[in-house]
Amino acid sequence: MVNILAIESSCDDTSAAVLSDGMLLSNVTASQAVHEQYGGVVPELASRAHEKNIVPVVDQALKRAGVDKEQLSAIAFTRGPGLMGSLLVGVNFAKGLALSLGIPLVDVNHLQGHVMAHFIREEGEPFNPPPFPFLCLLVSGGNTHIIRVKAYNDMQILGQTIDDAAGEAIDKCSKVMGLGYPGGPIIDRLARKGNPDAFQFARPNIPGYDYSFSGLKTSFLYSLRDWLKDDPDFIRHHQEDLAASLEKTIVEILMKKLRLAVKDTGITHVAVAGGVSANNGLRNAFHDHARRYGWTVYIPKFSYTTDNAAMIGIAGYFKYQDHEYCDINAPAFARIG
Ligand code: KG4
Repeated sequence: MVNILAIESSCDDTSAAVLSDGMLLSNVTASQAVHEQYGGVVPELASRAHEKNIVPVVDQALKRAGVDKEQLSAIAFTRGPGLMGSLLVGVNFAKGLALSLGIPLVDVNHLQGHVMAHFIREEGEPFNPPPFPFLCLLVSGGNTHIIRVKAYNDMQILGQTIDDAAGEAIDKCSKVMGLGYPGGPIIDRLARKGNPDAFQFARPNIPGYDYSFSGLKTSFLYSLRDWLKDDPDFIRHHQEDLAASLEKTIVEILMKKLRLAVKDTGITHVAVAGGVSANNGLRNAFHDHARRYGWTVYIPKFSYTTDNAAMIGIAGYFKYQDHEYCDINAPAFARIG
């Protein structure tokens, strides 16, 4: 029996999971409310909160799984990319525990972890993972990538954002509107009641499969500034239409490049992953593309859209099966390349 303990600490969630033979037994996450008052993640506060949370979170994950630490076969951990101070807490904890138990370490790339969320198996839950090869749109607060997934451990980035990530753009526009943090779920909720065609914002025009969201963000800010001159209460009067129009613009930008990638590669199995994949507008667009273009789409469970250790655990499990272990001296990395 292969028992994996997985640890994720790349941003502001401290998470630990336990898997047995690839089946998820527990997934415990401590989120950090401390950042809400700042309207964004404060790296120093994030690493301190990870320090505080990591022992109880790992302890809970083992207890809920009914697995003793002496029964562990390996420890999988997120090595990067992410916030360096946050990563260091999980990486060093994983190394220390693996060393003390005399078991191998398996390092997982956070982006690959998000893609692998589609392979999380749970007792009594449906399991319909995408077949290889498939395309995955990875959209979160830090990433916007189109990935060609050839195998569990063989992925190729086809395109990515050249500036802001989609989630970052949503969060920043929501901040400009004076809404809370993170803005994604708030925009999503407001958008359901608004008119998506009420306002037009700039769309990028860049070649290939890459994305850009900085122009949209600037256009949103400047448009609001102009409208506020005529009506100081403009945001309050129009917040649902603003949210719906912003969401529609972002979803259309995302889907346009994805359609191009599907057309060029001929791959029609298409998955979505990452925090923004919780968005209802984006989920609807995926279902709509399935109907219209014959795609087979794969949408993760809400609980595995944001950062979690279950996805790190399943990615680590497949690496463990291939005996791809990590050296104890391997450092955390903040960025890819
Ligand atoms: O994957 P994640 O938890 O962390 C990163 O690795 O970045 O993603 C967080 C991002 C935030 O930008 C948040 O606003 C966005 O995902 N998000 C959403 C929704 N839920 C979370 N964006 C749009 N609609 C949502 N329902």
